Amino acid sequence: MKGIILAGGKGTRLYPITTSVSKQLLPIYDKPMIYYPISILLFAGIKDILIISTPEDIRQYEELLGDGKKLGINFSYKIQEKPKGLAEAFILGEDFIGNDSVCLVLGDNVFYGANLPGILKKVSKNKAKATIFGYPVANPKEFGVVEFDNEGNVLSIEEKPAKPKSKYAIPGLYFFNNEVIEIAKNVKPSARGELEITSVIEEYLKQNELKVERLSRGIAWLDTGSPYNMLKAGMFVETVQSRQGVYVACLEEICWRQGFINSEQLKEIGMNLKQTDYGKYILSLLEEE
Ligand code: DAU
Repeated sequence: MKGIILAGGKGTRLYPITTSVSKQLLPIYDKPMIYYPISILLFAGIKDILIISTPEDIRQYEELLGDGKKLGINFSYKIQEKPKGLAEAFILGEDFIGNDSVCLVLGDNVFYGANLPGILKKVSKNKAKATIFGYPVANPKEFGVVEFDNEGNVLSIEEKPAKPKSKYAIPGLYFFNNEVIEIAKNVKPSARGELEITSVIEEYLKQNELKVERLSRGIAWLDTGSPYNMLKAGMFVETVQSRQGVYVACLEEICWRQGFINSEQLKEIGMNLKQTDYGKYILSLLEEE
């Protein structure tokens, strides 16, 4: 399975912060925002990751993440000329995806929870053609929304409905089989001129091939859509890290625990960062061993 992270868009809701900086490079506490969605792909066992961003910003992502070799994974990069919608990721990523299935994560989505790695591994191995998630929120109007009947079957999918039919928002994490490329190519732009991800999901629903996993209360899906919510997300990460002494979305740790790099390689990364808390944390992992 391949992984795609969409890290483009204009970030207009965060101006002036994002006037000259890409939103997904902004910090959530002590790491760039994009580290968090990358950690999700790594937990799913995905090692081939395509980062999509704007012509202006793509170079900075390359500078931040490189080719991934240091982490035992592969990063590639693709420009999205204009923010034409989330579904364009599958068209831009056609060659990268090849004959594989694909997981798309939005670069501004932050998840955290004890059983999340297990859920991601399970979903990445299941045989469903499309798996998305449902997460109860207080403000469903601001998201894609999934409606269920009493038996838990999906009734409808709507993008930012004025009158939401349920409180279940669809987080920016989607697993699709290879047919998604052709489905995305046939999506018509919405009233706001975008190739909507919800149109792709609706197509799988029509074919009766959509699976929705409801995420339980124990999992945090954090909003980064406003300065206040970004601050709250940062405080959440700080609280977990300082209380438990474990890092959220430390990519080096995850790659080491997944066996993508060995202890020697982890040590080298830690030594290069040893003047920072981040580097000290990495080195402390080796002491525990
Ligand atoms: O966060 C979950 C929500 O994300 C879903 O519930 C919605 O169904 C989905 O449409 C999306 O809604 P947003 O309003 O958050 O989408 P937004 O346009 O803000 O874009 C989400 C991320 O994707 C953001 O980091 C920017 C990036 N993006 C967006 C577009 C439209 C791109 O890289 N390229 C694009 O063309």
